[in-house]
Parts: sequence; structure tokens; C-alpha cells
Amino acid sequence: MKHERIIILDFGGQYAHLIASRIRRLGVLAEIMSPDDSNLISRASENLTKGIIFSGGPQSVFAENSLETDPEIFNIGKPLLGICYGHQYLAHKLGGKVAPGTTGEFGAAKLKIRGNSPLFKDVNKESIVWMNHVDAVGDFAPGFENIGETPHCATAAAWNPAKNFYSVQFHLEVSHTEFGNQILTNFLEICECKFSWNMEQFLEEQKAKLREKIGDKNVFLFVSGGVDSTVTFAFLNKIIGPERVKGLFVDTGLMRENEVAQVEKSLREIGTDLTTLRSADVFLKNLAGITDPEEKRTIIGHTFLQVQQEFFSHEKLDDKWLLAQGTIYPDTVESGGTKNADKIKTHHNRAPEVQKLIDAGLVIEPVADLYKDEVRILGELLGLPHELVWRHPFPGPGLGVRILCSDTESHEILADGESGKYTKLPIKSVGVQGDFRTYKHPGIMHTDEKDIEKLETLATKFINEYSEINRCIVQLGKNFDGEIRGISLHKTDTSIGRVEILQRADAIVTKLLRESGEYETVWQFPVVLMPVSFNDTGKESVILRPVDSIDAMSASVGKLPFELLEKMAEEILKSREISAVFLDCTSKPPGTIEWE
Ligand code: XMP
Repeated sequence: MKHERIIILDFGGQYAHLIASRIRRLGVLAEIMSPDDSNLISRASENLTKGIIFSGGPQSVFAENSLETDPEIFNIGKPLLGICYGHQYLAHKLGGKVAPGTTGEFGAAKLKIRGNSPLFKDVNKESIVWMNHVDAVGDFAPGFENIGETPHCATAAAWNPAKNFYSVQFHLEVSHTEFGNQILTNFLEICECKFSWNMEQFLEEQKAKLREKIGDKNVFLFVSGGVDSTVTFAFLNKIIGPERVKGLFVDTGLMRENEVAQVEKSLREIGTDLTTLRSADVFLKNLAGITDPEEKRTIIGHTFLQVQQEFFSHEKLDDKWLLAQGTIYPDTVESGGTKNADKIKTHHNRAPEVQKLIDAGLVIEPVADLYKDEVRILGELLGLPHELVWRHPFPGPGLGVRILCSDTESHEILADGESGKYTKLPIKSVGVQGDFRTYKHPGIMHTDEKDIEKLETLATKFINEYSEINRCIVQLGKNFDGEIRGISLHKTDTSIGRVEILQRADAIVTKLLRESGEYETVWQFPVVLMPVSFNDTGKESVILRPVDSIDAMSASVGKLPFELLEKMAEEILKSREISAVFLDCTSKPPGTIEWE
């Protein structure tokens, strides 16, 4: 069946695919094309193409190899919408000016709209939008009107009524942009779309594609008990029947307290074939002495493969087997897995060994086009229990991305009053700014504020102002008296002892979260261990990272009662190994959800 479509030109933003997903959810088929695709102009000119979107991207329009598209795209008479890099690209190519930025604007901003453009129909005069850029438009191209501004960006939205071209600096596709869906719906209406596409249809087409790809082979799938691999497992069972799907559960030793037993129980309840490989020793041995986050990721991915190969060598498998993975879309895009995206981190499903199997056509990834919210819809369509579908996501590398390590040690003495507005931590964490991976120091904000929304606003302001930090945390509790006078960084790696310390802290958080009835209030709640201590107390500190998100591509701080967070800190601090407990007040961007 032929569907009307919107074409999205993928300039490599973390969000190109998210735009497609949002459009599909609104009932219109979206197709992603590379800006340099030689079929672009003919495809874009077809009657079924109703409009074109230029996505965001990690480059600056001034970069030497910045991505270009055929300028004929401006002459084919279709409505056009530029987002972030797309906004700047339109100005740059159509006779306006882009101004190179220095500090940038990341996270929430207040958009004030002007005039009566159809793009902002039914959008409040003032609303929250999500920003993630360094450069900005200086002058709009001739024929464009200014239809929106934020305090940091006077040129946040533009409209050329004669050509039916629109562009916005903010990311309307992320769930944190208050009227994002409305603005996107308005654009689809401008394109005269009929809104006749739906998820069930997409899934039927996906099933047919998978059946063809699998043929008469059988499938192995590594399940972690997380939402993605569980749904993938159930989906494969449905498509090719349980007798041809074998689940392998690797106990990496990096799971949460009692999680191995719970996962085994819930997967068996789905009625599937499951083998557990107990491999904690191998993982911890391979991680010994490794402190760099990317190296840890590669080793975890490699060890998954090592364990898998060992298993296969006993099983004497023939060439009738494929490997399936529960990879979802954000996992591939953040590994630089789409043609033009920048690498944020290596997902364990993209370790070099797996990549070789992928290149050899031996891997299938049934939900690789979907976002977490879509995977959950699929889980519900497949009839999985509510508890399983709505479990907080847990990353494949498990606690391995929540235990920060260090190959150096340091001891810093702070004189009275030296801490200033924030205190820089001696360790770094991963973040994402302007579509790029960052690896910078978090800062402790000194404030008595307890309102989480205000803390998040303060954090955004700080990080936009001070480019040396990519996260802000505040203290929830401590095992020392008075001010911070000394900060120590300890040299350490991922040891069994540290895993156990983190497991205990994490178990306290989950227990209190469930008891308070707030478990489903937050989307995910990483608990992070860092080898930093204060005033010579303990060896470690803990960071609580509750987040709200829909698809993991953007996130804000989870709005939990502050007293509950303080209670969690109090319980965690009963262990004298812990020096202090903090709350991470950073949105994504500029911070990622995990700390690595
Ligand atoms: P970040 O830290 O990039 O995380 O904001 C986004 C989401 O992805 C999860 N995550 C992973 N999941 N394998 C996974 O299966 C991985 O290697 C991995 N790394 C991050 C993370 O928990 C969050 O939900």
C-alpha cells in the first residue's frame, strides 16, 4: 500500500529518527533520507511526498566538510521545516547569516512567539522549548519573518509565507518541548497530510520483513530482563514460534541486588526457553584495572561475545542460527550508528565483534527502529504483564556504567569560602552538548533550594555559563560535619566490593521508591558510585539520578518529593563507606542519563 509521506533529511542529529517516530505517532509515514542521496529530488518531487524536514546535526554550517544537499530542494514547491542545524542551514543557504557561538544554549528555554504563523497555531504565547546549540542564526534570509525568540536566542523561529518554509532553533521533536507535538501537527496540516498511518500497520510490515530475513533459521537472543530484550523475545516468539527462539541470559555480575533470580522467574513466566550463563567472574576479571568509560564499554561488549562464543562452542551450532539483539534506536544513533551522527558512546550491542556479525548479515534487531515508548506499546500489544513492560530501563552493561573509576588519585584542600558558586569535582562524567559527546567535570552547586524544578533551572543556567562543567549536583546528605574542606579522588576500578556497595545503595533507593508509591512517577532512576570522598570520610560518594523521559533522547530531573530523596540519602549514609550523597539536577542535554 502506498502512503503519503514526509521526508526527513538526516543531517546527523541525535534526533533525526525521533522526528520520524513522532510523525509516525501522529499518523503520517516519515522516511529518512541522507541529504546527499542522489534520488532525493525525484523522491521529494513525487505527489506522495507532502513536505520536507531538515533535521538537526552535530556540525556547524562553517565546518569544512559540513553536510550539503541539492539546492534544487528549495525549488520543488513543497513545504519545508528546518530544525536546529536545519534552521541554520536554511538561513545560511538562502541568503541570511549564521553567527558562530562560543558557549551555547542547552536544555529548557522559554519561547515567546510573535505574529500569527500557522506553525504556532494553538501554541501559548510563552512556552518551554528544548535547546541544544552553539551557533545561532544572526540574520534571517530575505523573505523570512521572525516568529519566535528565547532569552538567549533572538532568532529562534522563522517563517517565509511566500514559500511556505519554516524553521526553528529548538528541538520540537523532544517530549520536553511543551507544544512540540502541536507544532509538528501544525506542520503536517500545512503539508495537507491525511493522518492515516498507525503503529499496528507498522508492526505488521515489520513482521513480514523479519519473517523474510529469518527464513528457516533459528534465533538466539541475549535477554537481560530489561524492557527492550524482553519485548524482542516475546515478539520473536510470536513471529516464528517458541521452538525456534532460544533465550540466553548472561549474569554479568553487574546486575542489581537479587535481579538475576527475578529476571529468570519473570522470563520463565512468559513461557520461553531460557538458559542462564553465570559469568560474573569473567566480566570482573576483564574489567580489572580498566578506568576509561569507553574502554569499559568495549570490554563489556567483548566479554558478552566471549561468553557467547564459549557457549556456542559447547552447543556445536550449525549455520542455521542467527543472533538477535534487543537494540532500540537511541542505542544505535548514539554509537554514531546512522550515517551522519556523531558518536556519543559505544553501545555494547555495537562492539567491534558484534559489528562484524552485523556486517556478515548474522544479526537481527527486531525493534531497532523503535524508541522506548514504542517498544512499550509493542509490549502491550503482545500482551506482556504491565509490571514487565513498565519496569525502569536498565542498561545492558548494567552497573558497569554506574561505577565511575579513576586511574589517578588527588587530594585537594579548600580554604574557607573558596568553594564559590560551585565546587568542581575531580572526576569526569559523560554528557551530550550540541549533538557531541562531552567528558567534563560535574560541579556541586551550593544552594539551600529544595524545589526540584528551580534546581534544574539553576543547573541549566550554570552549565550554560561555565563551559568547564557538564552537570550540576546538590548535596542530599553527608557523613561529615560542616562545610567541604577537602576532596579526595581515589584510584580504583570495577571491583566486586564496589559493585556490592552500589547494589546496596541501589536496593535502598528501589525499596523506598516502591514503598512511597513513586516508582512509576519517574522513568528511570540510576544510582551512581564515584570514588570521591570529602573531609577524609569514607571512600565513595553516591549520586541519585531520577529522570523523567519518554524515549531517553531527552530527559529532565524526576520530580520526586525532596524529603523522599533525603530519606534515601539518610539510609545510604548508614554505611560508613559512603562520604556523601548527591542529587543530579542536570537535564539531558547537557548531561546524559548515565554517568559512565
Ligand atoms: P544515556 O546515558 O545515553 O542513556 O542518556 C540513555 C538510555 O540508554 C540506556 N543505556 C543503555 N542501554 N545498553 C543499553 O541497553 C547500553 O550500553 C546503554 N547505555 C545507556 C540508559 O540506561 C538510558 O536509559
